Amino acid sequence: MDFKNTLYSYGQDHLLENWNNLSEEQQLTLKRDVESQDFKLLQRLFQEHSSKPSTSTEDEILPLTFDLAENNIRHSMWEETGFLLLEKGQVAAFLVAGGQGSRLGFEGPKGAFNIGLPSGKSLFQIQAERILNLSNKAGHPIPWCIMTSPLNHQETLTHFEEHQFFGLPREYIRFFSQGTMCALDSNGKAIKSSPEHLALVPDGNGGCFRALAQSGTLAWLIEKGVRFVFLYSVDNVLVRIADPAFVGALASDGRALSSSKVLRKKNAQEKVGVFASKNKLPAVIEYSDLPEALRLETYPDGAPLFDAANIAIHLFRTEALKRLQSTPLPWHSAKKTVSEVENAWKFEQFLFDAFPLLGSMTLFGVSREDEFAPVKNAEGDDSPKSARQMLGSLHKYWLERAGVKTDPRKLYEISPTLSYAGESLSQLVFDRELGKNILAFDP
Ligand code: UD1
Repeated sequence: MDFKNTLYSYGQDHLLENWNNLSEEQQLTLKRDVESQDFKLLQRLFQEHSSKPSTSTEDEILPLTFDLAENNIRHSMWEETGFLLLEKGQVAAFLVAGGQGSRLGFEGPKGAFNIGLPSGKSLFQIQAERILNLSNKAGHPIPWCIMTSPLNHQETLTHFEEHQFFGLPREYIRFFSQGTMCALDSNGKAIKSSPEHLALVPDGNGGCFRALAQSGTLAWLIEKGVRFVFLYSVDNVLVRIADPAFVGALASDGRALSSSKVLRKKNAQEKVGVFASKNKLPAVIEYSDLPEALRLETYPDGAPLFDAANIAIHLFRTEALKRLQSTPLPWHSAKKTVSEVENAWKFEQFLFDAFPLLGSMTLFGVSREDEFAPVKNAEGDDSPKSARQMLGSLHKYWLERAGVKTDPRKLYEISPTLSYAGESLSQLVFDRELGKNILAFDP
């Protein structure tokens, strides 16, 4: 169908007002934006979401329990298995970095944010160096897939180019952009952000499965012989990318298609999604969707009953990713101000909605101090300051565990190129590297 007819048939012909006043180039731009959208889907989502409540009260929601993986007697066997898979090149990393990071107030891709560590490294650099260290140990590069959005794609690429891809082999990194959804006003009419552009917003981190496949990256991974994909969010400064024990645990489980790291929720108020059983299937229930009564339920010791916090670290078998490329995830809606239009409808998908569709997953319990220090807010909880302190305390603990005499007034930052997760440290290394790959800082 001609694009103008598409607009007429979905009641979006207001987009053609002023058409004759646009330059030829502007007309082409608008046409391209319109053609990137599925107006049939937008119409259906608007009708569904504007007419019914978003959460069903009939769902059966039960807590899921988990154990700390490091206490499992098979932990070192998992680690060995994971290393073997890394050595064979069967493990890849997949970063979803298409979000807008608006809470942090940082203009630009969140991964390029410098959280104020003494090294001045960005989140991307910390991640890249962890990948580099592990690749060197395994003797095989770890393919790294990075999903951006059209809003931050070029800036992300430029950040990597300016830093020579942080020493990683360029041919093992793939950047691709996720899809977008046009924001609608309260009458379901598509919003423009300028005379020639629609107000397009990223389609949520759940767009990652579609984008991975459509960009050819899933095929690229499969061709490389990758079997396990470590999928994670951009903002956690402690993320152990491609963690061998995590990989080995899923590989040793004959049934599960995916695995997720979890840790105990700090308290009922912590704004994280929780893993739960929803209508007998594994699911993540976002903080804002967990009914208040369930959120406040506790064990006799006062700990929250729904305590399996989603820290956005997952591992998928490639079979699962293949299945998800053509399995539609549900759509969520939110009302936000978009291009100065108040109460605009935004539609997005969440990657964790893949779990009930896959049906079989495992939970891998970890400790917060070791693995979760997200940077979400400019100040307070989950801020650059709290992340620096957590990283500094963890790295100091690694040094002390290795028998190093540290300064009680200081915290430490250890370069991920020196130590991936606390290994390879000693007094000798400390004396040699202090001021270079080990930096002391004030709490
Ligand atoms: C997310 C989880 C939440 C979890 C928390 C842990 C979702 C919806 N929620 O919350 O359950 O407890 O992490 O830190 O995942 N992104 C895209 N494209 C988009 C939107 C986001 O790639 O269109 C990426 C972001 O760049 C980021 C990740 O997805 O890396 C999560 O982003 P965000 O939407 O901010 O979710 P959180 O509120 O952090």
